[in-house]
Amino acid sequence: MSNIRTAAQWVSEAQSVVVLSGAGMSAQSGVPTFRDAQTGLWQRYAPEQLATEEAFRDNPAMVWTWYVWRAMLVNSVAPNAGHQAIGSWQEHLLAYGGSLTVATQNVDNLHERGGASEVLHLHGSLQNYRCIDCGRSAAFDPASSGMRADKTFDEDQALEPVACTYCAVGMLRPGVVWFGETLPQDAFHAAVDALHEADLVVVVGTSGLVQPAASLPSIGRDAGAKIIEINPVPTELSEVADLHFAATAAVILPDMLSDVVS
Ligand code: APR
Repeated sequence: MSNIRTAAQWVSEAQSVVVLSGAGMSAQSGVPTFRDAQTGLWQRYAPEQLATEEAFRDNPAMVWTWYVWRAMLVNSVAPNAGHQAIGSWQEHLLAYGGSLTVATQNVDNLHERGGASEVLHLHGSLQNYRCIDCGRSAAFDPASSGMRADKTFDEDQALEPVACTYCAVGMLRPGVVWFGETLPQDAFHAAVDALHEADLVVVVGTSGLVQPAASLPSIGRDAGAKIIEINPVPTELSEVADLHFAATAAVILPDMLSDVVS
């Protein structure tokens, strides 16, 4: 039986599914990944320059501008066929007493806009902002910055950070997990709990390089779940996978799920 038919068979039998996604899930929507050669964000900038609290305190205008640019870009693109297939799959399973948990490393909201609900954001979200000093949550609309949602980040579009209106001391920061920071424990433990019950885990669009998210597929395997990986190239996680599709999310997911999604 071909791999796609095997995967479709596992999909048809699965009652408790976990989808673990990374930046590759959103690549075909036009959102850059981090480590893809040539196009990855980290090919052009060091994470330490943009994705740490130290970087923000050292150069708040550049880091703030980068996150507002990413938020504007995400708001300007659409979920791809992969996001939509996962959303439909979750709806199908819920209708028949099953479950599908999406645990994503992505800070975009494309899974939600593709129809998925209760998405676990292991690395936070660009939809949330808080004061870096007093910690109060704050509403912020990236469109209010006047920034263009260009496909590439332009360092010259420097924006002044936004002051906290509660303490009037701190600056707003994005509600994302920076390097060296702890993941949101409720999201992480919910993902672990779902993996302990899973009979099928689909790992899509992640290089599997960043812990502790990279350890999640093994939890599913150890709990007896079948593991499918979708990634154009082999990764650190490929040896954990029962099936690896050297393909893209927006192509394989609709194909693999064609029997269960409308
Ligand atoms: N479909 C599926 N996979 C894809 C696609 C696609 N269309 N395009 C690229 N990929 C794969 C790449 O081959 C790569 O393995 O997606 C993966 C993206 O890897 P990274 O850029 O490292 O992104 P990710 O794994 O999500 O990074 C994890 O690192 O920088 C931090 O916090 C950031 O959440 C991020 C974390």
